[in-house]
Amino acid sequence: MSENAKLTYNGQEYEFPVITGSENESAIDIAKLRGSTGLITLDPGFKNTGSTSSAITFLDGEEGILRYRGYKIEDLAEKSSFLEVSYLLIYGELPTQEQYESFSKEITHHTLVHEDIKKILEGFPSNSHPMGVLSSLICALTAFYPDSLAPNRSEEEVNLSIIRLIAKMPTFAAWAYKNEVGHPVNYPDNRLDYCSNFLKMMFALPAEKYDVDPVIASALDKLLILHADHEQNCSTSTVRIVGSSQASIYASISAGINALWGPLHGGANQSVIEMLEAIKADGGDAKKYLDKAKDKNDPFRLMGFGHRVYKNFDPRARIIKKAADDVLEKLGVNDPVLDIAKELEHSALNDQYFIDRKLYPNVDFYSGIIYRALGIPTDMFTVMFALGRLPGWIAQWKEMRENGEPIGRPRQVYVGAQEREYVSMNRR
Ligand code: MLT
Repeated sequence: MSENAKLTYNGQEYEFPVITGSENESAIDIAKLRGSTGLITLDPGFKNTGSTSSAITFLDGEEGILRYRGYKIEDLAEKSSFLEVSYLLIYGELPTQEQYESFSKEITHHTLVHEDIKKILEGFPSNSHPMGVLSSLICALTAFYPDSLAPNRSEEEVNLSIIRLIAKMPTFAAWAYKNEVGHPVNYPDNRLDYCSNFLKMMFALPAEKYDVDPVIASALDKLLILHADHEQNCSTSTVRIVGSSQASIYASISAGINALWGPLHGGANQSVIEMLEAIKADGGDAKKYLDKAKDKNDPFRLMGFGHRVYKNFDPRARIIKKAADDVLEKLGVNDPVLDIAKELEHSALNDQYFIDRKLYPNVDFYSGIIYRALGIPTDMFTVMFALGRLPGWIAQWKEMRENGEPIGRPRQVYVGAQEREYVSMNRR
């Protein structure tokens, strides 16, 4: 039996129910706080605030646990595929053979995009960041599928939008890259699996034969699984809050892409490679930079180490470290930037300073390394993250809608000027 939490304020005592989740985490339910006490809570960054109850992803930052719908990330990364994990996240259960076939067939069927989208793409300057292009193209789907705008859209329409999003995202992602490098876009090849199709659209050139390397396709599939959901992070919370206004799913996902873009969120893997390149440009002395990281007076920050919620280790990083080793070995990559990465990793894992501060290499560190080894350009790293996070965003949007959650509307503590007289311009 859970106890109530008591709050004493202004000499009066108030009680609030404590609710317990299925993994025994507890939360004080303050839904009636303002109504009964006149108080609100202040929690910048929402580090102590649960914005919802969710049945999608369980994360224990202290123990390094991550599970999608109850399934361990380690098992899913080893035994499942990205499309199967997408189905699991969105619909709540692992698909039967029949469900899986129909789901992947539907997705394959919708990979092509309206030709007019190419015109929108062509309007972007070639130096546009692919994340901006991707979020714009996803948002543009509202114009091609206006039914998605109706607040009381049917289940059928919602499902079709979900399928379209998963199907078209790789096409948009690859096209955003093609626009950047000034190459003609490739159309999807529906004979290929999800990741191979993306790789072909991304790398194939009209003048050359392109065969997808299965080692690369399988490493990519694993990376997408590892990124598929991470409960109420910045971009996911954005998707839910935008969706809570009954904006279209395309608009909500587009907003999530923009939230992911920032260097403190999805842009972190790009920052890792940029840091490694800067170290290389400065002579490649990893030790010098480890010392700089330890120096309190030095503004240098080691990118890709430690994590906001994982206090001991990032379970995704453990899986991905092995994948990174395999990929580098199988592809026989010889890259001085990746050598610096290995040196930093080794030192950080063995240096007491980093061990004490739990500054272990995180998922962004290894994903940056793998993407670089796979030949994916640095500013596409965040796009790869978005490709992986898409089913998580969709699942969270769908759950928010099915729970009938109210529009997100945080409060504030106002600290500005008090009421004052308007001063006409000639008297200012
Ligand atoms: C994520 O996967 O979304 C990142 O690790 C960031 C986070 O969870 O806060």
